[in-house]
Amino acid sequence: MLCVLTRTMVKAGMMKSPGLVKPVSVTKVAGRYLAHQEGLPKLPLPALQQTCERYLTALEPIVEEEELKHTRELVTKFQMPGGVGERLQMGLVHRAQKMENWLSDWWLQTAYLDYRMPVVIHSSPGVVLPRVEFNDRQGQMRYAAKLIAGVLDFKTMIDNETLPVEHLGGKPLCMNQYYQVLSSCRIPGIKRDSVVNYAQSKRPPTHITVVHNFQFFVLDVYNSDGTPLTVDQIYNQLEKIWNSSLQTNKEPIGILTSNHRNSWGKAYNNLIKDKTNKESVRAIQKSIFTICLDAPMPRVSDEMYRSRAAVQMLHGGGSRWNSGNRWFDKTLQFIIGEDGSCGAIYEHAPAEGPPIIALIDHVVEYTRKSEMVRTPMVPLPMPRKLRFNITPEIKQDIEDAKQNMNIMVHDLDMRVAVFSHFGKNFPKSQKMSPDAFIQIALQLAYYRMYKRCCATYESASLRMFRLGRTDTIRSASIDSARFVKAMDDPIVPSTEKVSLMEKAVRAHRGYTDMAIRGQAIDRHLLGLKLQAIEDLSALPEIFMDTSYAVALHYNLSTSQVPSKTDCVMCFGPVVPDGYGVCYNPMESHINFAVSAFNSCADTNAARMAHSLEDALLDMRGLLEQTPKAKL
Ligand code: COA
Repeated sequence: MLCVLTRTMVKAGMMKSPGLVKPVSVTKVAGRYLAHQEGLPKLPLPALQQTCERYLTALEPIVEEEELKHTRELVTKFQMPGGVGERLQMGLVHRAQKMENWLSDWWLQTAYLDYRMPVVIHSSPGVVLPRVEFNDRQGQMRYAAKLIAGVLDFKTMIDNETLPVEHLGGKPLCMNQYYQVLSSCRIPGIKRDSVVNYAQSKRPPTHITVVHNFQFFVLDVYNSDGTPLTVDQIYNQLEKIWNSSLQTNKEPIGILTSNHRNSWGKAYNNLIKDKTNKESVRAIQKSIFTICLDAPMPRVSDEMYRSRAAVQMLHGGGSRWNSGNRWFDKTLQFIIGEDGSCGAIYEHAPAEGPPIIALIDHVVEYTRKSEMVRTPMVPLPMPRKLRFNITPEIKQDIEDAKQNMNIMVHDLDMRVAVFSHFGKNFPKSQKMSPDAFIQIALQLAYYRMYKRCCATYESASLRMFRLGRTDTIRSASIDSARFVKAMDDPIVPSTEKVSLMEKAVRAHRGYTDMAIRGQAIDRHLLGLKLQAIEDLSALPEIFMDTSYAVALHYNLSTSQVPSKTDCVMCFGPVVPDGYGVCYNPMESHINFAVSAFNSCADTNAARMAHSLEDALLDMRGLLEQTPKAKL
């Protein structure tokens, strides 16, 4: 979707540089954001019968017939006139009338803030940027300075409300997430977390935090007249930070944020009992974003570089390396390694990948464009180092967090691959949706490895609607199952395989269209379940049914996050025996990040990446080798 936006702008010749987002005006357009938001439609509530029917259809490829028979009976009972389903649906109708978006608060709570697993690996996506050619500290500082200036340039568009509105399928999108990613932070709780956003406060923050050798600094990035510091000025300030954080024996206080949320919630309350600690934590939470200046990671071969960079972005490599050089609750952290590895990690509660990637695309373009301009040097004060008083109890919490982090690090199996044989160009040449083509290839890859179809999650954007987040595209469909079963069957003629593939790809695209229009089933089912909980009524049987558990056990958790720069987003699996697959389809190649857990004997990220490559190639081979005339 972002590609559509930029391409249009490039064609129109509106930008100096093809990648930079151009503001719609050079001055502030007060009220533009709200006016846009108010013009967006509200998220629709699908009809109960429609969701029930579609739910049963979605179960067919992943649930045994016997189980499905039982579920059909439960669903029939659930949707009976005057039954439980109707009552819950009425509750949702009222909720939708009262609220700006009937789903968004619930979704934020259940998907993110109530989720108790560590945000590291289990929730926060990482982003690997193209490697930058610098091999020393100066290069690292210069790049960091440019990157910071690039983010501030993007922030000006947010502050001035001049960010161009994005479109999907010709429809304008909700821009709210852009207002949530800067100056915000997650706060741990013992049972439930929260998110704070200082961007809209009376005195919005004017500083970022920089962390080096586990030591945090407050860096003011605006002059007293409100203008952002120049790249030169930022560079000088970073130098000062570097020089006053050379000791490598500091407690990695930031690693506390990687722990299980309940444990971190408890440790947090203990940490902020001390006034100095509380002020330091607050400075990090309030900051616009965080820059992590990382120590070099172990060298690997060029082939493995992206996979190693992916884990650096996702978890920092463990307590020995850079995992303590983070504040994982911070919504947006940029990571710049001394060895040229660059990327980001973001805390997922406030936003999805696409707005983050749009910001990153702009920043990367900015770092390429802007040369250091010598500015008159008005001496700036030394950036303030944040102090922490480490009591024995805090020290113990840090040790516990380190230990847990190292277990997680060892458990993550990550493979980033570049599929270089084709990109969006090939499916397009076959008049097929590239995203659907890749998803069907994933179905084939999985089926070949496990001889079964599995519940598959693909994120679909709901941003056509006010405050819209995502719904689920269920990629395992009746049509995809028919195709994957036929593909390796020597008895099935090629022409029939092609026809089954086309049908599967069309069905996937059809599901996508339904999902982005707010007519998919998963958020609606969640809404019905949460309505029952809110009504304090018994949980309907359909939600305690085995089929529902199977449907939510996503062995494949996938997402397309496209970008203009050659980057790739990555995340962990959502179930112990599953895969996380994120991909960026470029015009003539595809970047993939595949993750799994080492503790599961049945999964293997490299094997899945391989199987996916084979599936893509075999699907192309089939299309190319089957004479068109016969179709
Ligand atoms: N023939 C030829 N070209 C086709 C085609 C067909 N049948 N179908 C689609 N295309 C073209 C499109 O026009 C588009 O062209 P472009 O490259 O010029 O822009 C391109 O192929 C890509 O379309 P498609 O592959 O169908 O995907 P999409 O861009 O519509 O994206 C989703 C699909 C599901 C990824 C998108 O709708 C979405 O929801 N994205 C958000 C995901 C998200 O939030 N992820 C974050 C998780 S943290």
